[in-house]
Amino acid sequence: MNILLTGGAGFIGSHTAVVLLESGHDVVVLDNFSNSKPSVLDRIEAIAGRSCPCENADLLDEAAVRDVFDRHGFDAVVHFAGLKAVGESVEKPLSYYANNLIGTIRLTEAMAEHGVKDLIFSSSATVYRADNPVPYHEDDALGATNPYGRTKVMIEQILRDVCAADPQWSVALLRYFNPIGAHPSGRIGEDPNGIPNNLLPYVSKVAAGELPVIHIFGDDYGTPDGTGVRDYIHVMDLAEGHLLALEYIRERKGAFPFNLGTGKGYSVKEVIAAFERACGRPLPVEIDARRAGDLPIVYANADLARAELGFSAKRDLTEMCADAWRWQQRAWSGQ
Ligand code: WQD
Repeated sequence: MNILLTGGAGFIGSHTAVVLLESGHDVVVLDNFSNSKPSVLDRIEAIAGRSCPCENADLLDEAAVRDVFDRHGFDAVVHFAGLKAVGESVEKPLSYYANNLIGTIRLTEAMAEHGVKDLIFSSSATVYRADNPVPYHEDDALGATNPYGRTKVMIEQILRDVCAADPQWSVALLRYFNPIGAHPSGRIGEDPNGIPNNLLPYVSKVAAGELPVIHIFGDDYGTPDGTGVRDYIHVMDLAEGHLLALEYIRERKGAFPFNLGTGKGYSVKEVIAAFERACGRPLPVEIDARRAGDLPIVYANADLARAELGFSAKRDLTEMCADAWRWQQRAWSGQ
């Protein structure tokens, strides 16, 4: 198949591009490089040993998006492009609604005009109401507490409405938990702009000496060691889940939510200890106040993806940290 990856130069997108290319699909990346770098494309091609055309375009530019669809015959779309920083979304809600909602609507309109009706949407565990019992199940109540999460809830609803209006559509709503790690080559990985908001890239930069100390946001939660527990999943497992989801939606119509998580939670301290083993030395930490909006424990019920997609995460926390550290050490990180 010829598959369009919006935001394909980003963290999850670039790893998914490699997996799809290596499985024999053709891939076109569309990215505005607002939170990624063009040099990633060269490394995707080097890893996969195949070309990966790239369109530098913004989903809000209707003419540009239509031109991309006119010039390429796509069979399916994987939609990663969007703003994704929770804190930033609180400060700039209109930017998040414009980019994420209107961008998705423009993409979906162009898909419909060109008869492309197979879509994988990059959703998130933040769509689940915080008062759901853990582990979260796909049928649990949805409701986010920040504009970023609300855009994900709204986009899932928009896509369900599109499927209800036109039964020719097939949509997978992939709800990621906490993706970390990097391709085992160390040539692509998570490369956030500025100071990382997320735990793993922050820990990685402390290990590399780029940041002085790890800040643990609270050690008084009701968890075994008092620190927050999350469902960390290797980005390569996540990428492979997208391939399974593409094959799944080719066989059926409608909208299908799936958790992409391991079904297991690790605490902040467990992640730091695993990273210390990966980098071979103790890391400086300090205990700070809890971060507003953080939940004590979040992890996935991973049964539905296993039963329907045949998906299960294969890589453990040791491998996630080893691959992340190799990426951090390679010259490419930060380029
Ligand atoms: C993980 C744990 C923190 C940083 C976010 C988004 C979510 C998804 C993944 C997009 C928590 C603790 C963190 C630090 C810390 N992204 N922490 N010190 O908050 O679970 O999820 O990223 O979809 O939408 O909300 O991930 O990595 O920020 O935090 O102690 O410097 O690490 O309190 O317990 P989170 P995270």
